[in-house]
Amino acid sequence: MDKIIVEGGNTRLQGEVVIEGAKNAVLPLLAATILPKEGQTRLRNVPILSDVYTMNNVVRGLDIDVDFDEAKNEVLVDASGNILDVAPYEYVSQMRASIVVLGPILARNGHAQVSMPGGCTIGSRPIDLHLKGLEAMGATITQTGGDITAVADRLKGTKIYMDFPSVGATQNLMMAATLADGVTVIENAAREPEIVDLALLLNKMGADIKGAGTETLTITGVESLHGAEHDVVQDRIEAGTFMVAAAMTNGDVLIKDAIWEHNRPLLAKLIEMGVEVIEEDGGIRIKANTASLKPVTVKTLPYPGFPTDMQAQFTALMAVVKGESTMVETVFENRFQHLEEMRRMGLHTEILRDTAMVHGGQKLQGAPVMSTDLRASAALILAGMVAEGTTTVGKLTHLDRGYYQFHEKLAKLGANIKRVSEA
Ligand code: EPZ
Repeated sequence: MDKIIVEGGNTRLQGEVVIEGAKNAVLPLLAATILPKEGQTRLRNVPILSDVYTMNNVVRGLDIDVDFDEAKNEVLVDASGNILDVAPYEYVSQMRASIVVLGPILARNGHAQVSMPGGCTIGSRPIDLHLKGLEAMGATITQTGGDITAVADRLKGTKIYMDFPSVGATQNLMMAATLADGVTVIENAAREPEIVDLALLLNKMGADIKGAGTETLTITGVESLHGAEHDVVQDRIEAGTFMVAAAMTNGDVLIKDAIWEHNRPLLAKLIEMGVEVIEEDGGIRIKANTASLKPVTVKTLPYPGFPTDMQAQFTALMAVVKGESTMVETVFENRFQHLEEMRRMGLHTEILRDTAMVHGGQKLQGAPVMSTDLRASAALILAGMVAEGTTTVGKLTHLDRGYYQFHEKLAKLGANIKRVSEA
């Protein structure tokens, strides 16, 4: 197991950083490649992340050709001919996001078997909205031995109101509806940029989807889909992570090709704190002097609210801003574990159910810390950059799921950081 060692103190990040394709876009896009019964699908700007390899293996397990050309950041998929309809447990159990292959396999084959995803450290992660929606479209769902089996000769278009704008459930149901008989309307749908990216690919494949990015999706079923080409949208969470890293280190960093529209709530909060945010060269430049930043209150919400995937990183910024900041996590029930670790670095914080009070401005002290999930890993590394002394972050399997060359990019910007193999 590797660990990251950060020498903190007076890190000041400067320069420019390139952002990869979005993890949370490419995973459903790979699931969508199951749908076409003829032609090949080429995805470009694919990030080299462990989750991508896992999803590639899930799709390969359906007897579908998947070729990942890392040198070109491209994946070529050929799902023509007959495909299998049982997603392999060994891969699905590794990554709960694999559940979004359920809708495509069912729509394509009329039968699908996918293992029930487990929970994770940030929450129980139920899939009731996925299953309720598929049942509303006429599927018969059974759960036996940890597997979900879904059967439907042909799904039927219907109107679905989602109790919660679940990203994964919206993706599963949108993909399933592309081949249904009739029109499916999904109300209270998720509006994330990754939903829009998925609808873009599906429409290139011959689907008929309207309203992506709004709370109402209208999908008119078609007989079949064909291969297509698509560039994966930029990762707004990686971009946001580097924006926060620049702000908390008195930095001056250009995040290349950052998309303002995809990070409006984060940018609004940074500006409210007193961070300088400049649109420049098609990207966003972040400059800050932490001594002049003001504490803020943040509440995570489904898009277009403040993203829960930026919550941990933003609390690391709150830690360096003098005064009382408040973070309210409304999306997941257990996503403050990074704050428990930051307490080991001297952070003063109180956590009461969904609310964390961060008493910022005290100098953090370097310490060995454990990461519990992907975004917590990034947050602890950022905290290590501003702490006095040495911080070591273990369990990097979480980090590698969602960040490509994270420590190299930070080192290029001026951080004193390295990755070593743990004995
Ligand atoms: C996606 O997860 C992302 N993952 C998550 O990113 C992200 O945090 C989340 O959306 C919210 O934006 C991928 O895209 C691969 P949800 P997903 O369904 O689809 C409840 C990261 O760090 N819910 O929108 O699983 C659920 O319990 C990861 O990159 C139900 O109750 O998220 C949670 O409280 C972490 N029933 C809330 O909705 C359901 O059937 C949000 O879940 C489904 C969800």
